[in-house]
Amino acid sequence: MTVERQELDILAGFDKSKFDYLPGEDRYLTVENQPKLKFNLIGTGNIGQEHMKVTILEGRATINGLYDPNEKSIEQAKDVFVNELQAGDINVFESLEEACNDPEADALLICTPNYTHIDVVRVAAKSKKHIFLEKPMTTNLEDAYEIMEIAKDYPSIFQIGLQYRYKPIYVEAIHEALERKSVGDIKTISIMEHRVPFLDKVGQWNKFSEKSGGTFVEKCCHYFDLFNLFAQSKPVEVYATGSQAVNFQTFQYEGESSDIIDSGFVIVKYENGIQCNFNLSMFSPMFYEELVLCGNEGRLKATETERFVPLEGPDNYLEVIRAGGSPSKTSTPVYPTEIQKSGHGGATYYEHVYFVDNILGKTTSTATVEEGFWSIVVGLAAEESLRTGEKVIINDFLAANPKDTVVNN
Ligand SMILES: NC(=O)c1ccc[n+]([C@@H]2O[C@H](COP(=O)([O-])OP(=O)(O)OC[C@H]3O[C@@H](n4cnc5c(N)ncnc54)[C@H](O)[C@@H]3O)[C@@H](O)[C@H]2O)c1
Repeated sequence: MTVERQELDILAGFDKSKFDYLPGEDRYLTVENQPKLKFNLIGTGNIGQEHMKVTILEGRATINGLYDPNEKSIEQAKDVFVNELQAGDINVFESLEEACNDPEADALLICTPNYTHIDVVRVAAKSKKHIFLEKPMTTNLEDAYEIMEIAKDYPSIFQIGLQYRYKPIYVEAIHEALERKSVGDIKTISIMEHRVPFLDKVGQWNKFSEKSGGTFVEKCCHYFDLFNLFAQSKPVEVYATGSQAVNFQTFQYEGESSDIIDSGFVIVKYENGIQCNFNLSMFSPMFYEELVLCGNEGRLKATETERFVPLEGPDNYLEVIRAGGSPSKTSTPVYPTEIQKSGHGGATYYEHVYFVDNILGKTTSTATVEEGFWSIVVGLAAEESLRTGEKVIINDFLAANPKDTVVNN
């Protein structure tokens, strides 16, 4: 007798630990997870450890082994797996090749710094195993084309880690705007992110444009993915301004000064006429995201707030104000508590649910390599506009790269 997925889903977020006194044969709804799939985790830092936790929470897979050249990352990840998650033993691989070609592993989770993605993918893809690659897929167009080429006839799943689309506010906004068409035809899209500075990383790769792709690629590819999703069209023009207004102005690492911006604005025009703007501030004492969609039949606003001060207000909020006598509404979309707090508002958890579903042959809405590509095209074009002070025409920008035929076919 096996507990059905649907029964487990109803109990998602319910604390089952108090039933640990039950003899094994009496556990049905509180059965210990019996993972069938095995993942190897490559890069066991901040997000790698989040992926490890949600893999165990999701339950249909486990982590078979780890690879990371930084001993402290391995040490902490091992401790989390064995002691915090109590998920059993875990292998540690000596090399990337060993981790990728491990016959036990069904899939590889690549959670390494942006500039390493291309080299890691080159090795990982030879294994033909399912691949999950963190965003941004690369730091430049040339490498992005190469990954598009690798993914074109790839015999297994190749998923990109653009999981913001699974944050509760965006899931609901997608439902309202794209499925119900609650605001009619979308005409303008605004996104704002106000947050704390980029945090410390192994090798401080996120302080340097060459290693991260620049702030508009590294961080903002999530929001450009949302632009692309809501616009349901291709970007044609990008204009950006930005500056290093507050953060890391005197920061040096191995003799190099940080060159990343911490604030800016990006305007994107789409083929179908939709206009978008994005506003970033990375010197705000909070995490705040806001989406506003204006259509010809209404306006949708969605916000996600994490405060560090004792002020009241919903963490997640969505309002749809509709014209023409249609009902308007507000809501506070959330996931079950354990999922909500498992990382990125539960979005990483659902990214894993759908990664496993993809592997098991179901069709889901996870980010494809092509969507990963278009999210960084906007980011790279914004970085280019920042450098030149000019508007970037996407066709010209892509044509400047000799491999443009790969995406245009
Ligand atoms: N989807 C999201 O919301 C999200 C959030 C955070 C980070 N990320 C992305 O995940 C990636 C990792 O970010 P992070 O915050 O975990 O960084 P991090 O610095 O905390 O961790 C990266 C880890 O990769 C290891 N590493 C470096 N080179 C490696 C290699 N060649 N092979 C194996 N391991 C290697 C480092 O030692 C480190 O432990 C980046 O691409 C980042 O943009 C995505």
